[in-house]
Order: sequence, then C-alpha cells, then structure tokens
Amino acid sequence: MIITLDGPAGAGKSSTARRLAARLGWCYMDTGAMYRAVALAALNKGVPLTDQEGLATLAGSLPIRFVDGRVELDGIDISTEIRTDRITTATRPVADAPPVRQAMKQLQRNMAQQINVVTEGRDQGSVVFPSAPLKVFLVASPEERARRRHGEQASRPGVGPTVAEILESQTQRDEGDRSRPVGAMRAADDAVVIETDGLTLEQVVEQILELARGRGLTSAAKTPSQDRP
Ligand code: C5P
Repeated sequence: MIITLDGPAGAGKSSTARRLAARLGWCYMDTGAMYRAVALAALNKGVPLTDQEGLATLAGSLPIRFVDGRVELDGIDISTEIRTDRITTATRPVADAPPVRQAMKQLQRNMAQQINVVTEGRDQGSVVFPSAPLKVFLVASPEERARRRHGEQASRPGVGPTVAEILESQTQRDEGDRSRPVGAMRAADDAVVIETDGLTLEQVVEQILELARGRGLTSAAKTPSQDRP
C-alpha cells in the first residue's frame, strides 16, 4: 500500500510524512534524500555533475537505506551532510537529468515493493506511483514556508539566512522544480490538495489519516499518545 505526499520545499512534507508513517506503522521514503545522496556520491566519487549517464549509473545502484529516521549510504550516516548548501546546490543538476529520474523511478518502485510506505517528494503521485490509492499534494504560501524554514534554522547553532533570503532561494528552487522537462513538480490529477497555512502538523496528519481511513487503507492507525516513547 502506498500513500504519496508531494509538494514544494517547506510545505511540511517531511515532518508530515514521517509522522504519518509512524501513526500508520508504515515505512517512510524520503525521495529528496535519495536525489541528495546521488549528488553526494557523485562528488565523493568524482563523477561530473554534467555526466548524466554516469549519474544515472550511480542512482541505479544507490546503496541507500532509511534506518530509524537516519539516511545511510553504504552504511554511513549521511543525514546531516546531505542537507548542506553544497549538496543542495549539487542536487539540482542531478534531479534535472532525465536518465537519473528514470533510474530513480525504478529504484523507488523496487524499494516500495511489498511494503506499506508513505513516500515523499515532487513526482511521487504524478510519475512514480500513478496508481497509489491516496495521493496528497501539500501547499502553503511562500511566506509561510520561508518563515517555517527560518524557524527550523533558528534552532541550529550559528547565524543563518534571513526570512527574505530564504524566500528568494525558495522561489528559485520552486521555479526549477516546476519547470524541469521530466518529473516536474505537480499535483497528480487525482491528488487531494491540502493547504497547510495555519494548520498544525497534527491537524494535517489527522486530515490525511481521515482520507486514508475513508479509502480503507488502514483500520488501526495509532493515536498520537500511543507512539510517544
Ligand atoms: O525534498 P528535498 O528538498 O530534500 O529535495 C532535494 C532536491 O531533490 C530538490 O531540489 C528537488 O527538486 C529534488 N527532488 C526531485 N524529485 C523528488 C524529490 C526531490 O526532483 N521526488
């Protein structure tokens, strides 16, 4: 069983997908982390970011695992490294390359075989899992998304970018995500669009759980208190 969760950067996909998967007792697949891992592997192995076939070969055999909320590449925890600006920038040509997207689609389908999974990205409902029984597209206003990102960064050490700077780079990323020739970010025709401005994480998760229940995808999702340690 598959639930897809797509949408622009900062719409709350990751926290929602993680929480939803925990409530359902399903696996969570972070496909943005997969593209980021290909970029990291390319930099580590000296594969030029212009070599689309070389990148696709890396993507096709990516030794990636999602373990207890961490992302591992070849058994090494890369969760922090793949979120650096260096990797975010390198991920752009990787995610734009049609052969990489083709390899990724296959890998993602293989990884989701015979398990229940909440998968998160830009093209999961529209391209990778077009027959998923529940597809959600999360949106939020650009300002709200930039404020959320700023709030997340404020909790980390060091001086981070301002809301205005985040808004500017986010607008560029959105534009790139929407305009790539293959795998452009878009809601599948049958996706449920949820506008998350003003909603808490728990409210968004509840809305999706309600949809999942309505479609008979779960009968035993945990209540919030049950999965707290
Ligand atoms: O979601 P996240 O910001 O980690 O994604 C990293 C990059 O991977 C983004 O630039 C996005 O365009 C790309 N991506 C993609 N298709 C996906 C998931 C992410 O092109 N399914």
